[in-house]
Amino acid sequence: MKKVGIAGVGEYLPKNVLTNADLEKMVDTSDEWITTRTGIKERRIAAKNEACSDLAINAAKDALKDAGLKPQDVELIIVATVTPDSAFPSVSCLVQHAIGASEAACFDVSAACAGFIYALVTAQQFIAGGTYKNALVIGSEVLSSVTDWKDRNTCVLFGDGAGAAVLKPVTSGGIISTYLHGNGSLGHLLTIPAGGSRMPAGQNTIDKRLHYIQMAGNELFKVAVNVMAEAAVKVLADVGLSVKDVDCFIPHQANLRIISAVAKKIGLEEHKIYLNITRYGNMSSASTATAFCEAAREGKIKKGDIVLLDAFGAGLVWGACVIKW
Ligand code: ACO
Repeated sequence: MKKVGIAGVGEYLPKNVLTNADLEKMVDTSDEWITTRTGIKERRIAAKNEACSDLAINAAKDALKDAGLKPQDVELIIVATVTPDSAFPSVSCLVQHAIGASEAACFDVSAACAGFIYALVTAQQFIAGGTYKNALVIGSEVLSSVTDWKDRNTCVLFGDGAGAAVLKPVTSGGIISTYLHGNGSLGHLLTIPAGGSRMPAGQNTIDKRLHYIQMAGNELFKVAVNVMAEAAVKVLADVGLSVKDVDCFIPHQANLRIISAVAKKIGLEEHKIYLNITRYGNMSSASTATAFCEAAREGKIKKGDIVLLDAFGAGLVWGACVIKW
C-alpha cells in the first residue's frame, strides 16, 4: 500500500457576514448568549446566486493551485456535503465540469459534519491501493439553505463555506492513521425530516417547516464529547501515539464548549487546538476542511508535526485521522 499525504489545501468563504448583532434583530437571542454558549461571533452566508457547487469550485481551484496540479490531471473528485445543489447531478460532477477535470471519477459523500474526514479517508484508500494517483477532496456546505431562520435554538449555530485538499502519494509521513464509526440508532437527534423519499416536498411539509434542520442540542452535545474523545484516543493509539504527541488538533467546529470538553477529557493542551468557529460558526463538512486549510496556511502546522482531525455529525457518524505533516 502506498503512503498518502496532503499536496495542497484551499478554501472559499462567501463574502456576506452575519453577526450576532444581526441575529438579535431576527430572533429572540443576544450576542452574550451566543458567545458564551457556543463561542460563535459571526458566520458567512452564501449569496442568493451561490449554491454548494459554487463554493466547492472556488475551494477546489484554490487547492489545485496550492498543490500545483492541473485540473486535467485530477483523477478523483469527492465532495462531502449534506447541502448539494440538488439530489443529482452530484456536486462533484458540477465541480469536475466547472474546473475542467475531464479525466476524474466523481462522487459525493454524505456524512454530515464528519464528511470531510470520511471523504479524506475514502480518497486515501483509492490512492493507497493504486487505483488513482491523486484526489481532490472537498467539504462544501450552504447550511443557510436548510436553517430555520425563525428557530433560535438552531439558527445561531450554522454558516456556509468550503474547504478542499489535494491528496497524492508521499514517500514518508502523510495520513498515518484513520478511524471511522457510526451509530444509526441516534439518527433522530439531528435530522432534516422532509424533502427526501420518506417525506417528499409538499405544501404540508413546507407549512410545517420540515425542510429545516431539527436538532436535540443537549443530547447531541453529550454524545459529541464522548465520541470525539474516543475517536481521538483510538486513532492515535492505533499507531502507538498518545495525546501528548499531537502538535495541532483540528476538531469539528460545532460548539466551543464541545471542543473544550473534548480537550479536557483527553488531556490535550488548549493552545494546540485550531479554531475558526468564532468567525464561521458550524459549517458541517466545511468546518474541518477550512480549519485544516487555515491552520496550514497560518503556519500552525510545521514539517514533522502530528495533526489530529476529529469530527462528529448527523447520522450519527464520527471519525478521526492522524496526519504526519
Ligand atoms: N438565544 C437565547 N436563548 C436560547 C437560544 C438562543 N439562540 N437558544 C436556546 N436558548 C435558550 C433555550 O430556550 C433554553 O431556555 P429555557 O431554559 O428557558 O428552556 C436555554 O437557552 C438553554 O438551552 P439549552 O438547549 O440547554 O442550551 P445549551 O447550553 O445546551 O446550548 C446548544 C444549546 C448551543 C444548541 C448546545 O446544546 C449545542 O451546541 N449542542 C450541540 C449542537 C451540535 O453539535 N450540533 C451538531 C450539528 S452538526 C451537523 O451535522 C449539521
